[in-house]
Amino acid sequence: MKEKILEILNNNVGKSVSGQLLAQSLGISRNSVWKIINKLKEDGYNITSQTNAGYTLNASVDIFTENSINSHLKNEHKIIIYDKETSSNTVAKRLASEGADEGTVVIVNSQTAGRGRMGRRFISESDNGLYMSIILRPQISASECVNITVLSAVAVCEAIEETSGRGCQIKWVNDIYIKDKKVCGILTEAAMDFELGKLDYAIVGIGVNLSAPKGGFDKEIENIATAIYENKRPCGYKARLCAKIIEKLFEYYPTLTKKDYIKKYREKSNLIGKEVNVYIGNEIESGTVTDIDENASLVVATKGGIKKYNSGEARVRKNESD
Ligand code: BTN
Repeated sequence: MKEKILEILNNNVGKSVSGQLLAQSLGISRNSVWKIINKLKEDGYNITSQTNAGYTLNASVDIFTENSINSHLKNEHKIIIYDKETSSNTVAKRLASEGADEGTVVIVNSQTAGRGRMGRRFISESDNGLYMSIILRPQISASECVNITVLSAVAVCEAIEETSGRGCQIKWVNDIYIKDKKVCGILTEAAMDFELGKLDYAIVGIGVNLSAPKGGFDKEIENIATAIYENKRPCGYKARLCAKIIEKLFEYYPTLTKKDYIKKYREKSNLIGKEVNVYIGNEIESGTVTDIDENASLVVATKGGIKKYNSGEARVRKNESD
């Protein structure tokens, strides 16, 4: 109830909302509204009460709730927000194996064991970022899984651009960059239904740095990481971005196998034309990226001829000795 009242006041910031209207919209008594308002004031919210006029929230607050995200969406999603958990992907996997519907979104405000690709950890222990996992149940084979990652990268890239105005690029396979530094990573995990030879579910885990941590990024990532906002993010931005990512991802999702998004993926690539090292397991291959093909494979001109990679990691070579 506290959250709901706060949301109504926040949607009418600076204006008076009558106790009667709040009571009616929530189906509670005016006395209960009054008690909840007092609790909100104790929590530090800048609310003034006017006798017979109502309640006014004097400054907007950054609300991040299931409702605030859904209020930006045409089609409502089941959204579950946890304050602290190991990893949103881990929680989403558990829910998916218990039968959660496609489209369910799991968000963790602070991850104690955030996971990245290739077994790396993903630092995500604060509210400076958006850490979300989306449950999908596409009828595809394991080999087509890369398309989910590619589609998601395009969706996140466009969502960041449209909500913040900052230009983004995609570093193959699924990192989002702003000005040569990583702002978002995506970890797609899947479970197979072996009897059907198809996917049972896929989890798209998305971690976006919204604002830089107060003391700056950790030493180990300070040269490679960035955030959408250098300082404080605008009020309500986390909910807006989250909703936009969901909206974009489900706009592209019906074209998963038609792959309309590959053209955009290629246009957004920051590797085409670059000298790279490609790491595949213990092997390293060097060359120039000439294209990204219709299967989202990286096309590299190496000394041994043209090679195509559909997995691995590419790093831009800074100099000859790299
Ligand atoms: C990478 O950069 O290697 C991928 C990082 C993916 C991080 C996100 S945050 C939400 C979800 N939960 C996790 O534990 N990981 C993904």
